[in-house]
Amino acid sequence: MSESLAETRAAITGWGKCLPPAVLTNDDLSTILDTSDEWIVSRTGIRERHVSHVGLEELAYVAAARALAAAGVQGSDIELIAFGSCSHDDQVPNMASGIQVRIGAHSAAAFDINTACTSFLYGLSAANALIRTGVVSRALVIGAELISPFMDWADRDVAVLFGDGAAAVVLEATRREEGVLAEKLGCYGEARETLRVEGMGGLYANRGVLYGVTRWRFEGQEIFRRAVHGMATASLAALARAGLTPDDVDLVVPHQANLRIIEAVARRAGVPMERVYVNIARHGNMSAATLPVALCEALEEGRVRPGALLLLPGFGAGLSFGAQLVRWGRRTTPLGSSAVELPPNEASALDLIRACLARKLHAADSRAPQPWQQAAALPRGSKAPG
Ligand code: UT7
Repeated sequence: MSESLAETRAAITGWGKCLPPAVLTNDDLSTILDTSDEWIVSRTGIRERHVSHVGLEELAYVAAARALAAAGVQGSDIELIAFGSCSHDDQVPNMASGIQVRIGAHSAAAFDINTACTSFLYGLSAANALIRTGVVSRALVIGAELISPFMDWADRDVAVLFGDGAAAVVLEATRREEGVLAEKLGCYGEARETLRVEGMGGLYANRGVLYGVTRWRFEGQEIFRRAVHGMATASLAALARAGLTPDDVDLVVPHQANLRIIEAVARRAGVPMERVYVNIARHGNMSAATLPVALCEALEEGRVRPGALLLLPGFGAGLSFGAQLVRWGRRTTPLGSSAVELPPNEASALDLIRACLARKLHAADSRAPQPWQQAAALPRGSKAPG
């Protein structure tokens, strides 16, 4: 088909990640929780994760600046910013408008999107639709998450699973047969109570609940089961929509919540693990940041060839799920690099967590206890402080 008759698509032309420098190992975690490196590695595949010394906007801004440089475009070229996250610095104003100011995208539309871990996938989907329908021609899609301040560091069921990070991609309109080819999004709303973070939202406002002092309601095995089903089903549906099969996929870049989930999805979708990109050992689950960070690292490691067919499946609270099928373009290296860096950090990850716990305790000292703290007992799996 000649380029002029071809339909408009949204190609990924720039990518950039930002991982805060402080690294929290499984052994670090076992100094504050009743857990072990052996348990965490064998049940999840996670060995370490990053803990941020800066806010969410800072992480996302550095990732955005790197993605713009990789695409060889200026902030002023961007017409849309979709910011995927569930751990906002602020609800009002939104996060995307903060990035708009930082990158100088003066005429851009800017919105936040929250489907938890799938927020990047859903943001990619929204930006893709707005590019394909001609509303905008260049978009920045961000997946960024700052879990550490919202973590219940006394709960080993969840505290070992998550980390902080950010990544972004630039999407540009093209008439070439590349970019997002097909997608499938969905949500098991009936299972939404399997993952609820109490203490984050208006439901708790003015009821004696301190923002950030959370309790995680988390049914790991049910989430696991739904995650495998949702990611595998969405992957096969996206492939079917594009008239392609698992054999056509060059690389699966999945959401990384648990290595065993990734392996089960690969089995069900019929793609061998040699064609699946895995980086969970280094980062844990960074929620919305996971998938775009994995994409950046797959590119850095030379796992994405020009013209490769990529499958990006994900799942998250909601329980949301989805999969994008992306035909990569000709360029797999960045056009340029950015001088933007995070402010320096001297603190260890454990220091950052202890500071976070001290802030929570200080805030709690000056107020009534959270409704769930009135039960007095420490949650199962936590070690006494000290
Ligand atoms: O993006 C959405 C995020 N959600 C997820 O990623 C959750 C998906 N689910 C999972 O990844 C897994 O279900 C988990 C990793 C959360 C748990 O693995 P599991 O194999 O389902 O373990 P389990 O919940 O059945 O727990 C087995 C045992 C329990 O002890 P008992 O009852 O058998 O004595 C737990 O108390 O392991 C215990 N346990 C731990 N032990 C050491 C739970 N967490 C820990 C821990 N360290 N951190």
